[in-house]
Amino acid sequence: MSMTIKTEITTLSTLLEDYNYQYYVLDNPTVPDSEYDRVFQQLQKLENEHPQYISSNSPTQKVGGVALSKFDQVTHQQPMLSLDNTFTEQGLSDFIDRAIEKSATNDIAFCIEPKLDGLAVSIIYEDGIFIQAATRGDGQTGENVTENVRTIANIPLKLRGNNIPAYLEVRGEVFMPKAGFEKLNARLQAAQEKSFVNPRNAAAGSLRQLDSKIAASRPLSFYCYSVGVFSGDLANSQYQRMQQLKEWGLPVSSEVQRVIGVSACQKYYDDILQKRTQLPYEIDGVVYKVDDIAIQDKLGFVARAPRWATAYKFPAEEALTVIENVEFQVGRTGAITPVAKLAPVFVGGVTISNATLHNKDEIARLDIHIGDHVVVRRAGDVIPQVARVILEKRQVENCKPIKFPSHCPVCESALERIEGEATIRCTGGLYCAAQRKQAIKHFASRKALNVDGLGSKVVDLLVDHNMVKNPAQLFSLSEQQIASLPRMGDISAKKLINSLQVSKKTTLSRFLYSLGIREVGEATANNLANHYKTITAIQEASIEDLQRVSDVGDIVAKHIYYFFRQEHNIEVIEQLLTQGIHWPEIATVEESELSLLGQTFVITGSFNKLSRADIKSALQTLGAKVAGSVSKKTTTVIAGEAAGSKLTKAEELGIHIMDEAALLSLLNQ
Ligand code: IVH
Repeated sequence: MSMTIKTEITTLSTLLEDYNYQYYVLDNPTVPDSEYDRVFQQLQKLENEHPQYISSNSPTQKVGGVALSKFDQVTHQQPMLSLDNTFTEQGLSDFIDRAIEKSATNDIAFCIEPKLDGLAVSIIYEDGIFIQAATRGDGQTGENVTENVRTIANIPLKLRGNNIPAYLEVRGEVFMPKAGFEKLNARLQAAQEKSFVNPRNAAAGSLRQLDSKIAASRPLSFYCYSVGVFSGDLANSQYQRMQQLKEWGLPVSSEVQRVIGVSACQKYYDDILQKRTQLPYEIDGVVYKVDDIAIQDKLGFVARAPRWATAYKFPAEEALTVIENVEFQVGRTGAITPVAKLAPVFVGGVTISNATLHNKDEIARLDIHIGDHVVVRRAGDVIPQVARVILEKRQVENCKPIKFPSHCPVCESALERIEGEATIRCTGGLYCAAQRKQAIKHFASRKALNVDGLGSKVVDLLVDHNMVKNPAQLFSLSEQQIASLPRMGDISAKKLINSLQVSKKTTLSRFLYSLGIREVGEATANNLANHYKTITAIQEASIEDLQRVSDVGDIVAKHIYYFFRQEHNIEVIEQLLTQGIHWPEIATVEESELSLLGQTFVITGSFNKLSRADIKSALQTLGAKVAGSVSKKTTTVIAGEAAGSKLTKAEELGIHIMDEAALLSLLNQ
């Protein structure tokens, strides 16, 4: 009897270890979360009933234990070093040249990996069992954070596979993924507790919790980046060692690569900088390590950093500057956005002098004053933001509070704030020149009617010269009128008239999107078009009926309904149709004609004949689902030019791949 329970506990533990390995290390879960939970609960129940069989490395033992009064010190057997930095391509190529020169070897290979923004941790496994974890500390001694690190979900308490060393120290970075950080801060704010400034601080704060139950509740994660002390033999290559760790069940970033040559090294940096904002965790550069361990040993160390490794850092995403003034911009739907005018500062690789302050509440939340010293943040293409005020630097005599206007700064109409919304809006509608400009720009934009040559500056001119009051009037402009505008000539006027003509042939979905109905983006416009097939049907739909369309909830339905009941909008739509805007009829598709029903497509790369939106809507019309990322569930990947990681992943998974030509012939069938 007791033997069977013991066996059952082992079987369930092994099953959970396999699930964890597939999920965290292979990034390829084989069972749904509910199945994992079911097995977990089954194991937990058995262990509760038979506590004598609970092993300290059971998958259930990741919830934290009794709180400590302080952390013990741990002396590292091998010092934990830091890295030299460079910020330039030149710095990288100097590092590579030095490594080649000092090692007297040409063509050295490098193992390259993202520089994770967290904290270094050393973990010791004895006979494959998790024994101890310590922070880096001063490099010689760190703190014993075993109980906290034990709770980190992707760190195995038991290694798997063959030839596991009797003693193995792995080193790596503990970090907090971006999504987990946002959730944690939301939770702390809701509980009126102090939130964290960034994921790195959140990771550090969580790892230093004396109560491991709190650490267990924090979404920490870990990637290995090197091997410390070990017994037995390991491969003589940094890259192969990382692959070996992975086989033993340890998490290693999927971005690790082995390359040769300066240009390949630089390309990796450029590529990952591009990908930076899409990665689920924060990175602040790339680490280059000589791959060959024998060459590493030959190169040795200077001071506290190895000569065989360097960090090529990304431009900082945060910088300190001063708010010189605040202006208020009016958006397409009348939303008033406060914009901070900054003393110019270099951040995220560019010089910025504006940052959005979002809305009135945000100004209050950050307690921003004109004259304040602030930290601004610019990540990738994201609009620069003010992250926080440095209150210590505030000089009361040089500071003044920000006064939110009571009337529209452009048309002087009253402002209103709808209950429950953070946004304050101008009530002027298309009477307001600012809203008119934005509405026309949106109408002409690429995903809407796509009017070539009608850029922001031209629209500003047309509105400022009172030539167009609404999108429909664009189509009655004459060549002479356009040519009379400053910096426009006969040729550009002719071109614009021609593109306006071309843009009249569109799709119902684009037309709907172009109207700029609140909350109706490309996807919703597409769903509406597929559902109703005609503009009249949409115009006549009731609020209840609109909610039957996928993605349309109560609020969006009301926006749509009221939009089509405004006299002015009805008129503009009528004028547009009279001007000859048209689209092909949407055929009513019988269920039997949904030839792609049950299939999931992913679109990647760029296309010549079709836009991504058009491809998406065509596939959806045939019943297919269109997903954002490649997984085992993907049926087909549509790959255009310069397709990147999604295509690679599809190839790895053996998923059917189609180019633009093949897609066109599929759609023609
Ligand atoms: S290697 C001798 N690899 O950066 C090798 N470090 O600035 C030393 N870090 O303390 C570390 N990602 O906390 C290495 N892929 C990576 C890393 C990485 C982040 C951190 C680590 C280290 C610091 C040095």
